[in-house]
Amino acid sequence: MIIAVCSLSGSPGVTSLATALAASWPSTPLTVPVMVEADASGGDVAAWHGIDPDQRPDSGLVSLAAASRAPLQATMTPQTRTQTDADETPSAFTPLLRHAIELPGGLRVVAAPADPLEAGRAVDVIAQTPALLSSGRVTVVDVGRAVPGSAGAALLRHADVAVVVTDLNDVGHAQRLRACAPVLASLRQDEVRVGLAVTGPCPHSDAEISQVAAQIPVWSRVPWDESGAALVRGAHRPAARIRDRLAAWWARRGDPESLEWMPLIKAAKGLSELCDDFSGIGVARPIRRPQEVEAA
Ligand SMILES: Nc1ncnc2c1ncn2[C@@H]1O[C@H](COP(=O)(O)OP(=O)(O)OP(=O)(O)O)[C@@H](O)[C@H]1O
Ligand SMILES: [Mg+2]
Repeated sequence: MIIAVCSLSGSPGVTSLATALAASWPSTPLTVPVMVEADASGGDVAAWHGIDPDQRPDSGLVSLAAASRAPLQATMTPQTRTQTDADETPSAFTPLLRHAIELPGGLRVVAAPADPLEAGRAVDVIAQTPALLSSGRVTVVDVGRAVPGSAGAALLRHADVAVVVTDLNDVGHAQRLRACAPVLASLRQDEVRVGLAVTGPCPHSDAEISQVAAQIPVWSRVPWDESGAALVRGAHRPAARIRDRLAAWWARRGDPESLEWMPLIKAAKGLSELCDDFSGIGVARPIRRPQEVEAA
């Protein structure tokens, strides 16, 4: 199942929400969620977590793009195929995982290079040959800005679910949403479910927002949350404000591991459960060929 997360303008928190969404996906022993940072304008995750891409040439978006050019079977050398037969690790079943690194906390991420030229080329290739993306049971793709006509927008058409993140306090974001909503809504013709995640405080009701956004539903309200955003960036500090300390204490009474006292994490968890409900795990659509995508 592919869940694409994108924006139309600005930086409303796509990478943060995509990361939190993958990290809070309902997991089973067979489900290893992967976050793919397929942002053609360049990635942030490696920098956030102090990862030096030169030390990890066999992982990341460029490595995924190179492997995507080859048919699935051809990406496995005879040696890896023999290993795979005896291998019970998740990457034996999910070739996508071979290009991922594991962040502290366990989330697997395919990080984009910071260089937009490199990242853009890789996204172009993956949008043309997305089979490896579908090899994950649950793949959350940070598409970055997906304005119509971009490689990011082409990636959206390969998704099962598309989440458009928008900050409606910004009048520019609101206008862009109004202008692009009909194209986004047309994704439904390709069997892509489309919904909105509205970040920050917003005085409008879900119904009012949907009305100006071609009836695209609001799936999530993502509150402004310094603690949650810092956790996602790998810069988490213990809660300082009394309100946050009380919320943490209350959440951990029921579940000592819970991070849901942080509003961003709680919103991501709710969104992951909603997306999980849309489609049974393992129900995958057939991959469309690039010509079909262009025609759509
Ligand atoms: N809900 C939130 N509350 C507080 N800060 C947030 C939230 N979401 C994101 N941020 C912060 O806002 C900044 C931008 O977030 P992020 O990189 O996730 O946005 P983006 O839409 O992916 O941006 P870009 O288009 O540059 O890739 C980051 O510093 C992040 O920590
Ligand atoms: Mg981003």
